[in-house]
Amino acid sequence: MTTADTASNRVEHLLGQLSTAEKVGQLVQYFHMEPSQTEQAEAALARGGAGSLLFITDPAEINRLQRLSIEGSPHGIPVLFGFDVIHGLRTIFPVPIGLAASWDPELVERSQAVAAREARAVGIHWTFAPMVDIARDPRWGRMVEGAGEDPYLGAMMAAAQVRGFQGGRRGVVGDGTGTVNGTGRIADGHLIAGPKHFVGYGAALGGRDYDEADLSDQELRNVYLPPFRAAIEAGAGNIMCAYMDLNGVPATGNRRLLTDILRDELGFDGWVVSDANSVRDLATHHFAADLADAGERALTAGVDMEMAIHDPAFDQLVAAVGAGRISTERLDASVRRVLSAKEAMGLFDDPYVDEDAARTILTDPAHRVAAREAAEAAAVLLRNEGDLLPLRAESLRKVAVIGPMADSRRDTLGPWVFGYDLDETVSVLDGLRARLGGPARVTFAPGVPLDQRVFPSLFEPMGEGSAGSPPDFDADAEFERALRVAEDADVAVVVLGERQDMIGENASRSTLELPGDQLGLLEAVVETGTPTVLVLFSGRPLDLRWAAKNVPAILEVWYPGSQGGAAVANLLLGDATPAGKLPFTWPRTVGQVPMPYSHTRSHDPDQQDRRYWDEQSTPLYPFGHGLSYARFSYADLRVESGTTSIEGASSDGTTLDGATLDRTLTVSVDVTNTSARDGVEVVQLYLHQRYGASSRPVRLLKGFRRVPIAAGATQTVAFTIGPEERRYWSSGTGDWTLDATTFDVWVGGDSTATLHAEFTVGAEPGPR
Ligand code: IFM
Repeated sequence: MTTADTASNRVEHLLGQLSTAEKVGQLVQYFHMEPSQTEQAEAALARGGAGSLLFITDPAEINRLQRLSIEGSPHGIPVLFGFDVIHGLRTIFPVPIGLAASWDPELVERSQAVAAREARAVGIHWTFAPMVDIARDPRWGRMVEGAGEDPYLGAMMAAAQVRGFQGGRRGVVGDGTGTVNGTGRIADGHLIAGPKHFVGYGAALGGRDYDEADLSDQELRNVYLPPFRAAIEAGAGNIMCAYMDLNGVPATGNRRLLTDILRDELGFDGWVVSDANSVRDLATHHFAADLADAGERALTAGVDMEMAIHDPAFDQLVAAVGAGRISTERLDASVRRVLSAKEAMGLFDDPYVDEDAARTILTDPAHRVAAREAAEAAAVLLRNEGDLLPLRAESLRKVAVIGPMADSRRDTLGPWVFGYDLDETVSVLDGLRARLGGPARVTFAPGVPLDQRVFPSLFEPMGEGSAGSPPDFDADAEFERALRVAEDADVAVVVLGERQDMIGENASRSTLELPGDQLGLLEAVVETGTPTVLVLFSGRPLDLRWAAKNVPAILEVWYPGSQGGAAVANLLLGDATPAGKLPFTWPRTVGQVPMPYSHTRSHDPDQQDRRYWDEQSTPLYPFGHGLSYARFSYADLRVESGTTSIEGASSDGTTLDGATLDRTLTVSVDVTNTSARDGVEVVQLYLHQRYGASSRPVRLLKGFRRVPIAAGATQTVAFTIGPEERRYWSSGTGDWTLDATTFDVWVGGDSTATLHAEFTVGAEPGPR
């Protein structure tokens, strides 16, 4: 008998023994944050009726609660512990938008594998991550948790994170024939990934968190679903559904989404959890009549487990099954999925955590090294006029470090962190002082206070808040002191941005301006004449119109994590070379958003750059932008079909007529590092379909590689373009479509790449 058979026998055996109430208990996940929630959760455990708990990171507490569950249940069923392990547990990595800016799926996989190792060590079995929502409106605070605006990049990052969390493709050991559910085991040191939020959460009206979204079928399938598809193909064991209404039906009660699309179309076979309280919310949405109706409609739509802040709606399912409104088969299908997840985690055989081992794993120095490398890879050099960067340490007498973010360790970590240790967090000031010397050489002034939050943060009870500024902060005196510090230095490193709690869940913003008087401080520092570098902390684009003209060097470091300051010091001083690229289009002003690079060509394209009366229509920085200390040139773009090289298929426009629709083509380019410095370039390939069943975007990312290239060396980079890269959902055909048509292809270092070729596939032009 295989491992899979044994596991599935145990699940079926249990299903045969559980009462309806016990089965329903397996479908509830209880919060464990406040005393009233703890009471509720413990009562459920003691009656053998909780599928899962969330928000606990202490291994001793996890063991205590696990014991309650196993001993409280006549069937000894263990509980699954879930948590938001978004970018690390104890060792904090850059926020996910920063990880995406590395354009390095392997690094992202490694980073989330470290997060998984720490989380599993303390007894967490399941992370509510990755967040794979496409975000095109930077007012939406949760942009920081995703991979930005692009479905292709988003899909690569989604799959990489699932592999990192779960440990390899399909995330199973054992006989390896199945998925997380029912058969294989998640390897030691890994946990179950729960991509979220299915689907369309990032399209919230006005960028206001939780507000409704309306998406056409073509936008849903071409833009919002690809990262979910990739995560599912990588073996994700769980999916979390979204809060909001999609096209007028709440995602949590949306059968078309949760069953027709998620299970039948995308082939998902894990279990679906609601978002916190989103089952109860079905009544708030004026969709369900009451709590009982909410529970029944969520389960019927396809939710298997309710994440309940209090009073689960699913408790009412016992009566619904008794009355025959929910069939036992439907209930069993969900319970089977949850029990199978517990099997996949090995909990029936080995439910407890080794608390001593947890301590050793949490302090593994290799994790800190990985966090620093990730922060270095994530940083994006937006501007570097006159090669101000890298700074030359030997020629610096004094460095001024200025700005409210410079010594804020809490803001260095970013949002969505809970198990961190501030004592081992390296701020930018810490990093520069460690690298260059103490306060005599690296002077510091915050300059302006940290802006105060207008509304309290949802999750502050779980972590310490931003350092904030002391109540006796003398704003005028500090501003003046910062200018004196700048005047007295060879270079000013000004560290500005958004506090970590100004972004994340329930933290949308109505402007993209630097909060408080940070811009005033920056202007005044530049005015002193001291060469100035802006280091930016953010999880979204900010209004940098003034800075992009007046500050010679700008380095976006996101919220860089535990080792952020060490990474920033290495980057500023040239021990590391920036290679990150923007995972979103950087607008000039909030009035332009959303402005994805992949819009379609429309009426009067020659005026496209003059669509606004008062502002250019181009972004400040294009999608994919990012500079390096090295320089790269691109040449000899060629398109090949099979083994046949297409003579002259480069920029002179020779076509590949007659290549059949199912043909896979190879596009190659030579990239040369023309500088005297080794570097890494993210080579990007964009495709445009000229005609067909739909108007297609002016450009679409369809391939990228992060390639190290030594000084003076040339590297050939090849991409394949098959039917998968060319097909799309057309509202013209109402189906997936592959047109016989001509394509433009560009390869370069960002989405404005100019090196061009074209090719035609299919004998005939597209449909008439
Ligand atoms: O995982 C999160 C989700 O992304 C948003 N609402 C709360 C959940 C649990 O913290």
